[in-house]
Order: sequence, then structure tokens, then C-alpha cells
Amino acid sequence: MRGIFDRHYYTNQGPLAQELEKKLESYLNVKHVICVTNATIGLMMAAEALELKGKVIMPSFTFIASAQSLSWTGIEPVFCDVDPITHQIAIEQIDVLVDDDVTGIMGVNLWGGACNPVALEAFASSRNLKLYFDSAQAFGCKVGDTRIANFGSLEVFSFHATKVLSATEGGCLCTNDDFLAARLRNIRSSYGAGVPVPVVKTSNGRMSEAQAAIALMSLEDFPENQQKNKLLFDLYEKKLKHIPGIKLVKPAGVTFSNYQYIVCEVDESVFGLSRDSLIAVLKAENVNARRYFYPGTHRSIEYNHAKYNQNLPATDYLCAACIQLPVGAIVDEDAVESICEIVDRAHHHAHALKSYFERRK
Ligand SMILES: Cc1ncc(COP(=O)(O)O)c(C=O)c1O
Repeated sequence: MRGIFDRHYYTNQGPLAQELEKKLESYLNVKHVICVTNATIGLMMAAEALELKGKVIMPSFTFIASAQSLSWTGIEPVFCDVDPITHQIAIEQIDVLVDDDVTGIMGVNLWGGACNPVALEAFASSRNLKLYFDSAQAFGCKVGDTRIANFGSLEVFSFHATKVLSATEGGCLCTNDDFLAARLRNIRSSYGAGVPVPVVKTSNGRMSEAQAAIALMSLEDFPENQQKNKLLFDLYEKKLKHIPGIKLVKPAGVTFSNYQYIVCEVDESVFGLSRDSLIAVLKAENVNARRYFYPGTHRSIEYNHAKYNQNLPATDYLCAACIQLPVGAIVDEDAVESICEIVDRAHHHAHALKSYFERRK
């Protein structure tokens, strides 16, 4: 950070942004890394660089930015359901959604797991569709021996402050395709960097030197932070497995996870309290638990309309049942023990708590 002030070089693909791209290329074992301001801009740039048109199939069970990136680029999202066990895209349900207007698929790798990118690649090529991934939550994860970053035409990561690799705000696009990388660099910087290639629209997706400095520090800490997340995940698993009606979701389809999020399903009929009541109990004890994702992209203002696929039973169930518990560098084992104890007590006193919440309605 001090070097930035010495050099008076703050942005425009400076030395730290270049160093970060090189280090990420080597860590992810991918040919091109294009760092950007945030993943949302990265996803918009991706849709433009891939020349997607018409409609793109994607899961509704994701952060709203995945769909909004399409809407910003004039593309209609076609929502598909997810597998209720893994929470990842239900590949077997995609085929019926493909029509003449569909030009691509956006896979989303959730919770430090993966949405079976190899099967999606096979499906996309059999139907001549473009495939790319919103891997905002998947930095560092591996499928088999391959790091996420290398599947489909390109993948987009987020380096938001909530992510295991943080630039405060930031992200990157990864691709092994030279021409696509050149397009992305031209879009990112209004023709300002890299080999000039024709693109219709440009943007400003540049990562500043300050963001790159923080990401470089965070990259050094990544192995430690990943191990810490795994330790906390294992502890949550041990403590929560005895509590009826709470199911911890394991990162699916990966050989190496970043354990980015701790997500549980709350089965009200067994636990005794609804997901929202449990969140209220945790909030009262100063625990920052969240419903994530809620209400589900297909139920959000822009897409809650018959024009968009609303028949997504697994997504609807998960949006009502999922709770996200704290994890990350500033959470320690004592905190996890206390959180699990609160959940356990909430279960034991569910009857009394339920009447309390009903009286307050
Ligand atoms: C699945 C998914 N997609 C997109 C984003 C957007 O990332 P950013 O905040 O870097 O724009 C996020 C952020 O949490 C996300 O989880």
C-alpha cells in the first residue's frame, strides 16, 4: 500500500494489478486472469464478450447479481431449479428449457461446492450452447485435479469483503481462450489495455492498485483462511449433527473446498421453530445469521412474473429453509461452540419461543 503512494500510480493496470493477475494465473493454473472492480461487472462483461443473445439458462437459487448481469446486457434469464440435496443446478431439468432463443448457460458454483461443470460442459456442447460460470463463491475450489477457473468458456470470481479472498471490492475473470481474454481486456478498459480487438460495447471494470494490494495480501493468507474455515465447518458439523431438524449442507462436487459459507436447512416440523424465528433468536444473542438467498431470484421484484419460470419447488423450499451461520477469519472456535449451543437451546425451548413469537405478531 505504501508503494502505491510512492509511485503515484493508482489505477490503469498498475504494477500491483499486473502482479495479482500473474499470481492468480499461476495459482489457478489458468492462461488468463482479468481482474475487475467486482464480480457483478465481471458477469456483465462476460455476457458481452461471449456475445450472448436472447435467453440464458441459470439457476434462480443464487445471488440476484447473477440474473441482473444478464438483464443489464439485454438477455432474458431462464430460471432452472436446483438439486435439493446439493443446492447446485439440477442438470437433468435443463433440457426442457432449451428453445431456439437460448444461446447459453450460466452455471453457478455455490457454497464452496461445484455444480458439476464437467457434465454441464458435455450438455452445453451437445446442444451447441455457450457455457460460463458464476464462481463468485468458489475461489480456490477444485473439481478432481482441476481448479475452478478452467471450466466452460470463462469463470467469474468475486473478491468482495465477504469472500475468502478479498480485495474489499473486486473480482476476476478466468479463461484459457486468448481471443476471449483480449475481448475482455478491451471491454474492461475501453480499449485501454492489451491487444486491440473489436468489441461493440466497452465499460470501466478496472481494479485499482489499492484493491490489488489488499487482494495480494489476502492471497498470501488464503491457505490459512481456508484451513480455518474447514476447522470451523468440522466443528459446526460435530455440534449440529445431534440437533433434530438442522441439516448442515456439505460442499458438493469438489475435492477441495474453501468452505466459503456455512449453510443449514431448518426443518420447522422437526426443529420446532421456523428458520426466521431461529434467526431472530440468534440475532437477539448478537449472532449475525442470515437468510441467504431470500426470496429467490424468480420471486424478486423484477422476475416475479409469469413470463419467468416460477415452477421451482426445490428453490422455493430452500429459500424458506436455509440459514447462513458465521464463518471466516474473525470467527473462532469458541464462537462456533456458543452459536451451536444457542441453536440447541432454541430447539429445546422451541415450544415456549413459538408462543412468544406468536404473541408478538
Ligand atoms: C453467486 C454470486 N454471484 C455474484 C456475486 C456478486 O459479487 P460482487 O459483490 O463481487 O459483485 C456474489 C456475491 O456475493 C455471489 O455470491
